[in-house]
Amino acid sequence: MGITPTNPESYFPDRFKDKVILVTGAAAGSIGGCTAIRAAREGAKVVGIDIKEKELQATADEISKSGGESFIMVADVSDPADAERMVSDAVKKFGRIDMALNAAGVMDGNDPTKPQDFNNEGNLPSSIHNASDEYWLKVFETNIHGMFYSMRAELKQLLKQSEGGAIVNIGSIAGLTGLPGNCAYSASKHAVIGLTRNAAIDYAPYNIRINSVNMAQTDTPMVFRAYEYVKWMQEKGKGSSMAGAKSQSLLQMADEKHRGSTPWEQSAIILFLLSDDASNITGANMATDGGWTAF
Ligand SMILES: NC(=O)c1ccc[n+]([C@@H]2O[C@H](COP(=O)([O-])OP(=O)(O)OC[C@H]3O[C@@H](n4cnc5c(N)ncnc54)[C@H](O)[C@@H]3O)[C@@H](O)[C@H]2O)c1
Repeated sequence: MGITPTNPESYFPDRFKDKVILVTGAAAGSIGGCTAIRAAREGAKVVGIDIKEKELQATADEISKSGGESFIMVADVSDPADAERMVSDAVKKFGRIDMALNAAGVMDGNDPTKPQDFNNEGNLPSSIHNASDEYWLKVFETNIHGMFYSMRAELKQLLKQSEGGAIVNIGSIAGLTGLPGNCAYSASKHAVIGLTRNAAIDYAPYNIRINSVNMAQTDTPMVFRAYEYVKWMQEKGKGSSMAGAKSQSLLQMADEKHRGSTPWEQSAIILFLLSDDASNITGANMATDGGWTAF
């Protein structure tokens, strides 16, 4: 049978009325982009950050089409100055931030704003013995250094405001279990879990809740890039890499079309965690993975 996905049109009117949400990795089609669009429908003022200028603008256009308000900024979270600037410009524009989603992430060491570069093989996902320094560093620079710089800037502002807040970090099933053929991604996502747990402890006294969501295959540009890569590996006779030991979640196996998760399904969970309905949840690293880590 079909596993019915979250309706992309569904939202709770006014759930985030007058709240400001900052979203890194907010380009259209991504998990961050869909979360930004739904948050705006629910009344939030959105600050969207990405390095993909055109796709970020598409998110802002979608928000203004439905009568919402957003402020977008091309910024690189792996640059600490950019991370500080994204928060200070958000405060200049909207006066405060209430919530943040740290969704910016990469799966390999090549430029994510460009099509995959199969000639630069050293930057593709890799096992440890073949991994280049550049691949390792690039993945870490965005996925964990960038998340640290973003959280540092966001938390400084939330502490200054002294009114609490909520942050969701995006990890992955690759942070909850091993993922074949992509050592830097898996290690960086395990680090997201550690940073989330540490921050939940340190900021609970300030009523700032911090959680992470950890999905399996979700149909976004990152996954389309992963498909291309897996196909290339198979054509080259190099094995199946990331599509190795386990390739489908429980719900994906059950669904008649074996669909992955949709970014709207992830947005619904992320916004629940950011909302007051999740007032007793912090330090949770939720498996939003269709049952991937259940077996
Ligand atoms: N799609 C999946 O199957 C899947 C599975 C598990 C985890 N994730 C995680 O979900 C998060 C969102 O990814 P997605 O699936 O929406 O893919 P995506 O590639 O569509 O979105 C990630 C966004 O981050 C942006 N970005 C990358 N580096 C950046 C930087 N240095 N500064 C600012 N922006 C940057 C990209 O331009 C892109 O728009 C990522 O952290 C990813 O690792 C995705």
